Amino acid sequence: MCGIVGIVSNRPVSARLVEGLTRLEYRGYDSAGIAVVNGQGIVRRRAPGKIINLQHELDDAPIDGTCGIAHTRWATHGRPNMENAHPHRAGNVAIVHNGIIENFKLLREELAQNGHVFATQTDSEVIAHLIQHYLDKGLDAEDAFMACVARLEGAYAVAALVGDTNQTVYAARHGSPLVVGFGEGEMFVGSDAFALAPFTKRVLYLEEGDSAVVSIDKVCVRDKTGTLVTRDIMTASISAVMAEKGNYRHFMEKEIHEQPEALARTMAAYIDPENDIPTLGKAAPLLAEADRLIAIACGTAYLAASVAKYWFEGLAGVHVETDIASEFRYRTPALPKNGAALFISQSGETADTLAAMRFCNQATMGTIGVLNAPESSIARETDAVMRTLAGPEIGVASTKAFTAQLAVLAMSALGTAHARGRLDDDQIKDHIKALSQLPELSQKALAVKSQCEEIAPMLAASKQTFFIGRGVYYPLALEGALKLKEVTYLPAEGYAAGELKHGPIALIEEGTPVVVIAPTDELMEKTISNVEEMAARGARVIAITDEAGAKHFTERASHTIVLPDMPGLTGPIVCAIPLQLLAYFTALKLGTNMDQPRNLAKSVTVE
Ligand code: F6R
Repeated sequence: MCGIVGIVSNRPVSARLVEGLTRLEYRGYDSAGIAVVNGQGIVRRRAPGKIINLQHELDDAPIDGTCGIAHTRWATHGRPNMENAHPHRAGNVAIVHNGIIENFKLLREELAQNGHVFATQTDSEVIAHLIQHYLDKGLDAEDAFMACVARLEGAYAVAALVGDTNQTVYAARHGSPLVVGFGEGEMFVGSDAFALAPFTKRVLYLEEGDSAVVSIDKVCVRDKTGTLVTRDIMTASISAVMAEKGNYRHFMEKEIHEQPEALARTMAAYIDPENDIPTLGKAAPLLAEADRLIAIACGTAYLAASVAKYWFEGLAGVHVETDIASEFRYRTPALPKNGAALFISQSGETADTLAAMRFCNQATMGTIGVLNAPESSIARETDAVMRTLAGPEIGVASTKAFTAQLAVLAMSALGTAHARGRLDDDQIKDHIKALSQLPELSQKALAVKSQCEEIAPMLAASKQTFFIGRGVYYPLALEGALKLKEVTYLPAEGYAAGELKHGPIALIEEGTPVVVIAPTDELMEKTISNVEEMAARGARVIAITDEAGAKHFTERASHTIVLPDMPGLTGPIVCAIPLQLLAYFTALKLGTNMDQPRNLAKSVTVE
């Protein structure tokens, strides 16, 4: 989740290194730094915090050269301070690293015994020292880099400058993504094609275990066996235009408001206009023929999977297991003989989700990625890609990507139910008709904005907030709590409404806010009973419901957020919007940086 940029050019590179970093800031913003080869050796500038601090550092003490590397950090080992900022140095070597070197302690001890002195608490610094160690043993730059890489265990993308005058960037990937870009008279390395988009769109994706020697006019790639290989050069579809906030104060606000459009785009991609049935492309046979499905993801994407479980089981009659990717990959999961696995990910780079997908690929299960990033690692390795057409999501908290994931999963469940004969043409048409209203319904849901803004000071002043729901609204309750805590840093818990009395109800005090997500459905009465239990203990109830449901809350709730009627599968998608708005306005009230909340990063490429 750190971001890496490298440039070898016939002109100065510092400004462009920083520009590339700015496009990677979503990956982490604990510190930033650059190193260039400038004629007097390798020089570097670093600063704690955001890239703007590095820019100030460079304004005060400029450095430049025609070959350099840069890094924006999301801290794993070592505090997010200046000392631990990359690039790390050892002698004539500077490195930037994304990932975790699992055997760093052993390597560090070994190098320390050989006289190496370490200046940081990071796992990454060991890479610079190890390369220098092999240079000291007489290996040339490339061999020293390769010898170092061969000893690294864990996940990494690394870029290195090796030698005082060497106009070359050495790069390697194992578990973390890295691309090489081809410019005119210059070459680039980056964590993703988006970072390189202002400079070039011609890119080559390094594969697992690849290393690359990048000089001004060429790249030599070796695979994990050390054999020279040719990798395809492709044209990245990513725009060079940096996403702008437009008239909005924050990306989160903008992205919440982009949902009607994102949902319209996504839905259109999955409806066969001739017959009004879902078109699922290569995923269709995998879903139709599987005895069992596994849906694997992390965070908000996992909650989208959890909603989909209700849909697939209820409509298509297919058993779905949901799994948090970081749990799935470290147990010995009993895989179905004839199953298919869905991997849901905005970035398509989440390390645990990617590893889980590789595990299923190896087990020869059919794999399907529900992805917002069409050129991501998961997209390249999965059997079938189902795209969410949410557009770039810059705010760290997932908003429009989540609802677009739900839209794709709803269409997938319907397509599967149709293929299995569980829903006939007319029933499918009714469902599609309902889902086609999503752009309009989500637009109407945005109208509750001012009400969410009014409620926000109450949430901001509360010790903790509860979110409850039943059925498909249970994962939504978890999502409401996740959204609130990640952007406001306030404690929030989501529960299945029927589960509260088994323990968590002990936490309810006079005035504790409880957000209940309860549009009219067959579980409404049960949820109302749970609301009564809360209200009797002094909870302040905030109800999210529809017009028909509102009457149940007149006496029971201090606030009732009334959404339009939500037919078919639209409910969880529309209900996500007030939850996002509550989190956004509470963060606004508290003055937190909801676009880049502390300790978080957009793309989690470490385990
Ligand atoms: C929360 C959030 C995260 C992500 C999770 C998975 O708002 O955004 O929980 O959903 O890190 O990320 P992707 O979808 O990129 O795999």
